[in-house]
Amino acid sequence: MSVHQSGSAKRITTHVLQAMKERGEKIAMLTAYDYSMAKVVDDAGIDIILVGDSASNVMAGHETTLPITLDQMIYHASAVVRAVHRSLVVVDLPFGSYQGNSKEALASSIRIMKESGAHAIKMEGGAEIKESIIRILTAGVPVMGHLGLTPQSIYKFGTYTVRAKEEAEAQRLIDDAKLLEDVGCFAIVLEKIPAQLGKIVAETVKIPIIGIGAGQHVDGQVLVLHDLLGLTQDFHPRFLRRYLSLYEEIKGAVGQYVSDVKARDFPNEKEQY
Ligand code: KIV
Repeated sequence: MSVHQSGSAKRITTHVLQAMKERGEKIAMLTAYDYSMAKVVDDAGIDIILVGDSASNVMAGHETTLPITLDQMIYHASAVVRAVHRSLVVVDLPFGSYQGNSKEALASSIRIMKESGAHAIKMEGGAEIKESIIRILTAGVPVMGHLGLTPQSIYKFGTYTVRAKEEAEAQRLIDDAKLLEDVGCFAIVLEKIPAQLGKIVAETVKIPIIGIGAGQHVDGQVLVLHDLLGLTQDFHPRFLRRYLSLYEEIKGAVGQYVSDVKARDFPNEKEQY
């Protein structure tokens, strides 16, 4: 049975991503949180759109990802899904919506899938959330894992520095990646770890490994859209490549509009009825 295709674009599915890894084709993933941005990103040919809980930072202005709620994630995800014709839409289970127990994790996942129309969920963690992942997968919901720097645990880590530099933590991460593969996750995000460890994980497991600050040897890359576009300002990690300086460009355009209004230049005769 095939997945319903809307429009002419061939939809990206978890099977397509697996085939991409097998033929060595890199996977491009970005975040989006609203209809207009998701439409551009999908149209530009992105493979996966992540409705990340980074919405808590870039959309709501919180310092961490912890405050965003399940209802708010569903709101963002629904808007993104309405815009998308091709990309696979993955939604973060927010902090507090799955850590309690596997029943709660399943209920949260079902709400996201039912109320937003997204295609998969992502959760942070390894062995400690195994039971929840199995329960969600058993219900037919594809799960993407997330290891390395997991921002929902920032108060446990204490800092946003590179993870798994020590051998014991690196070995735990490799074991967790194997476990996520064994239970049936379709892909794993690795955040802010040494490039050599990213390479080992990508070669050890058969499912796609998507990196953010995990080096060039993994199967794909993900960035936060607002960082890539230069909308965020005081964030300069080594892994970030900015493709635009949108903050400055938007500021310039808005400044010009303000001047035009004040100078009675806008609207002109052609711009009125
Ligand atoms: O929420 C998010 O944007 C993420 C990415 C950093 C992978 O989880």
